Amino acid sequence: MTMSTDDTATDSSNAATEPMETEPLLRVQNLRTMIRTERETIRAVDGVDFQVERGETVCLVGESGSGKSITCETLTGIVPQPPAEIVGGTIEFDGEPIHDATESERRAIRGSRIAHVFQNPQSALDPVYTVGDQLAEAIEIHEDVTDTEVRTRSVDLLQRVGIPNAPSRIDDYPHEFSGGMQQRVALAIALACDPDLLIADEPTTAVDVTVQARLIELFRELTDGGMSLLLVTHDLRVVASLADRVLVMFGGTIVERGPVERLFDRPAHPYTRELMDSHDGVSRRDERSARGSIPADGCRFREECPHAIDDCGGDGQPDFYPVDGRDEHRTSCVFYAPGRDAGTVVEPVESTTSDHTRPVDGAAPGGESRD
Ligand SMILES: Nc1ncnc2c1ncn2[C@@H]1O[C@H](COP(=O)(O)OP(=O)(O)OP(=O)(O)O)[C@@H](O)[C@H]1O
Ligand SMILES: [Mg+2]
Repeated sequence: MTMSTDDTATDSSNAATEPMETEPLLRVQNLRTMIRTERETIRAVDGVDFQVERGETVCLVGESGSGKSITCETLTGIVPQPPAEIVGGTIEFDGEPIHDATESERRAIRGSRIAHVFQNPQSALDPVYTVGDQLAEAIEIHEDVTDTEVRTRSVDLLQRVGIPNAPSRIDDYPHEFSGGMQQRVALAIALACDPDLLIADEPTTAVDVTVQARLIELFRELTDGGMSLLLVTHDLRVVASLADRVLVMFGGTIVERGPVERLFDRPAHPYTRELMDSHDGVSRRDERSARGSIPADGCRFREECPHAIDDCGGDGQPDFYPVDGRDEHRTSCVFYAPGRDAGTVVEPVESTTSDHTRPVDGAAPGGESRD
């Protein structure tokens, strides 16, 4: 199912001709997207690096406004330009660079290999066609099947994403569904193309617990079948239920990354520790806007950080240092630099073991419930 990032053994026999199986499905380096408004220029995505392995679930977490959606939209090229402008970075998908693909090339990749379910479902659904028509179009792009098969498969997709009475609802128009249902309809359409990578932006936010459990099960089935999942969520219980690895975003950049069990047991960056503890992104964002903007250089969190020292300023983001000497768990915090005492950062924060970090099905984080 999941391959560790350390599984980088290579087979030189096919290296020249085709992508190696151990190569990540998605590799993103130094991604940068600005948003220019009349009042200001926001560095919405500011030097983001990460990768997603085949069959892996990577969860992107962080407070409201930290740049999660713009990161995803930059990846698939659907970020609205203007006001946004993609100013740098490389994106490799299955060994091929796609950051400089033309719009039609990107559309072809989006329709077949990468599916993106937006946080705002209205933008994905066409109001003048029924849900069934839109599902049929997605299925027929991919495969040559009869009308009866298209209908059977469409109903099945709607049922899999938890739409009740799917056989009759299939003939309804998007506006006849609630916001949460519209997003699940968009998910069903996205899955019709049997993607290699699904990017899902807050798919479990506007749903009740039963539907949430169904979606978690569906995502597990899909990743067990080899699909990769980049999941944006505020819900740490969903992270605990699904993630192999976690990326923590703050102020347009990633401040910590690592295996899910490490992030829960040993959150390292002061922001991650705060996130695990308070888990209240929206109100903190309101506080922050009242106080001013995030620093453009050095550690973006330093104005908020109870441990900040002079070294947290300076050029660029602090390097990513291993936490407890583990290469797979890294944080961009000067206290983890060699020779520093990371205990200064860790000490005053309370334990993170609480209900909001417990998996939805009650199992231990890190996928022990998954096999
Ligand atoms: N159309 C836009 N015009 C101006 N600023 C925007 C626009 N879209 C996003 N932004 C800004 O870009 C930054 C990143 O926004 P983004 O939507 O990626 O945040 P997010 O992490 O997805 O937040 P949330 O958890 O609320 O969905 C924020 O400062 C936001 O205000
Ligand atoms: Mg968002």
